[in-house]
Amino acid sequence: MMSNPAKILTSAPNLELIIPEIPEEEVQKPVKLSIVLPTYNESENIVPIVQHLTSLLNPVLRKDYELIVVDDNSPDRTWEIAESIVSKYPNLRVVRRTEERGLSTAAIRGWQVARGEILGIIDADLQHPPEVLLKMLLLLKKNPKVDLVVASRHVEEGGVSEWSFIRRVLSRGAQILGLIILPEVIGRVSDPMSGYFLVRRNAIANQNLSPLGYKILVEVLGRGSIRNIAEVGYVFQERQVGNSKVSWKQYVEYLRHLVRLRITLWPIGRFLRFGIVGFSGVFVDMTFLYLLSDPSTLGWNLTLSKILAAEVAIVNNFLWNDAWTFGDLSRSQQGWKKRLKRFLKFNAICSLGLFLNVAILNFAYNVLDLYLLPNGRYIANLLAIAIVTMWNFWLNMKLSWRVTQVK
Ligand code: GDD
Ligand code: MN
Repeated sequence: MMSNPAKILTSAPNLELIIPEIPEEEVQKPVKLSIVLPTYNESENIVPIVQHLTSLLNPVLRKDYELIVVDDNSPDRTWEIAESIVSKYPNLRVVRRTEERGLSTAAIRGWQVARGEILGIIDADLQHPPEVLLKMLLLLKKNPKVDLVVASRHVEEGGVSEWSFIRRVLSRGAQILGLIILPEVIGRVSDPMSGYFLVRRNAIANQNLSPLGYKILVEVLGRGSIRNIAEVGYVFQERQVGNSKVSWKQYVEYLRHLVRLRITLWPIGRFLRFGIVGFSGVFVDMTFLYLLSDPSTLGWNLTLSKILAAEVAIVNNFLWNDAWTFGDLSRSQQGWKKRLKRFLKFNAICSLGLFLNVAILNFAYNVLDLYLLPNGRYIANLLAIAIVTMWNFWLNMKLSWRVTQVK
């Protein structure tokens, strides 16, 4: 692959972050593995890590891999040092960015010019032990259904070397925050903070990636089509030379990143349909309450009438939700038995929701002192309805219409 002059990406920061299938001009010479080494002021680490990775990968992959340094115009001229050893390490390529900064986008820019079917990332400061790569590679090779292999500090053989109590707390705190905001994404791996992983190109190609800050793995998990995941333990080494670039700013960006993903991944269309169906239920409930309890009609006892009216509304909502809101999920779980099961779960969740509704209404009105406001009663009720609608939606999606049989 001849000598590669540092590729200067003068891309504007808002340029699309989409990873192509395999860059056109490179189709003729694809490689198996492309590993990105993001660097910022790693002048003392860059040669040792390239040397280490090369001696590790050469015997296994021969020429079938590439190392892509993505440097953000480091003041210590890391890019220049990397460029100067390209003739000695023909598998090395260097990208020097002048307009963009940031670890996550560096990974993507590297993958955009990569030729490998397997894309990877590793810190350039030797805190990620390179040997683990071979295990990760083997896992991908042996398991065609695994799309992502993550090096994790939180599985067997994993750990951190000499982290202070405060750093451990911050790291775990970030993970818990992620679990609260994005449980279905963060919960898929034991170490979502890891910046050391391999992913199949076809699992993330052609997706509009839009990460913020440091945690590119979160973006890959959130927006990629990742079927199965494998994990390999590793011990996070102490930094020998140079400095970490992590500051409080990264924590803020991480939080913004989580929120951005949350908004994107929220099943907004489904939620709207659920809301419309819920609205129809109000009319059904009202109509039946009138028919059953009004003195001019049946004139039954109010409580009994209300219970019956609510039940009719629940049946109404179930039928619409089953056919429309969650229609795609229902169709993959046919048969009257499964349908009945969905209905019973829906019924139970909605009934619990009613209790919750009353509880929140009372809490907001009496404890949060909403009775002090002119229309406090109705504000409290709106609040209760909003919370219970979300509760009903989320639980029903996760429990009632959950697809239970996985092929
Ligand atoms: N191109 C580029 N641009 N590279 C960067 C930037 C940037 O803005 N910031 C950091 N890097 C590079 C560093 O040079 C290093 O190679 C790597 O990204 C990791 O950065 P560090 O500053 O050393 O981070 P760390 O050791 O605290 O952080 C790591 O935390 C995780 C574990 O908690 C992350 O980098 C993860 O990769 C790691 O697994
Ligand atoms: Mn580091």
